[in-house]
Amino acid sequence: MVKIGIITGSTRDARVNLQVAEYILEKSKMIDGAQFEIVDIKDYDLPMFNETVPPAMANKVYDKEATNHWSAKVDGLDGFIFVTPEYNKSITPSLKNAIDHLASEWSNKAAGIVAYGSTMGVAASLSLRTILSNANVATVGPTGGFNLFTDFEEMSTFRPSDVHNPTIQAVLDTTVNWSRGLQSVRS
Ligand SMILES: Cc1cc2nc3c(=O)[nH]c(=O)nc-3n(C[C@H](O)[C@H](O)[C@H](O)COP(=O)(O)O)c2cc1C
Repeated sequence: MVKIGIITGSTRDARVNLQVAEYILEKSKMIDGAQFEIVDIKDYDLPMFNETVPPAMANKVYDKEATNHWSAKVDGLDGFIFVTPEYNKSITPSLKNAIDHLASEWSNKAAGIVAYGSTMGVAASLSLRTILSNANVATVGPTGGFNLFTDFEEMSTFRPSDVHNPTIQAVLDTTVNWSRGLQSVRS
C-alpha cells in the first residue's frame, strides 16, 4: 500500500486550493492499493526559510520545530499529488518555501501535478516540474489543468467539467504506479 500526499499549493485565507485538493481526494477513492490524504502546507505554519544548514546537508535534522514536523510528514509519504495555482507564471511562494525546506524527504519519489489558472496553470506546472526535478522527484507525464473561467463559478466555486476525468485518472494511476516502483529505489 503506497501512501500519497495531496499537497496543497496555496495558503491564503480565501484560497480555492482546498476545493481542488478535496476533489482529488474524492477521485482517489476509486484507486486500489494506495492511501491518499490531504497534506495542507498551511497546517505546518512554516516561516520564510531560515534554517542554518541547507536541507541537502541537514540529514533530516533541523533548527525549527515546524521544519522537523514538516520533514516527518513528507518523509513518511511514497508519492505526491501537488495541487498548485499559477501565480505570476509560476507556483506560489508558500509552496516553493515548503519544498525548499526539505531535501532527501522528497527524493526518489513520484509526483503528479494538478494545476489551475486562467490558462489552466500550464506555466505553474512547468515551473513546478523543474523545481521537483532538482529534488529528485519524478513527475509523471499526465498533468491536470483546470481553467479559472470555465471550471470555477465566478472564479471561486470549483465546478470542474467532466472532460478532465480521464486526465485526472491518468495522473492518479501513474503517480501510484511510479510511487510503487520507486519504493525499491529507496530501499
Ligand atoms: C499574486 C497572484 C498572481 C497571479 N498570477 C497568475 C498567473 O500568472 N496566471 C494565472 O493564470 N493566474 C494568476 N493568478 C490568478 C490565480 O491563479 C487565482 O487567483 C487562483 O484562484 C489562486 O489560487 P488560490 O485561490 O488557491 O490561492 C494570480 C493570482 C495572484 C494572487
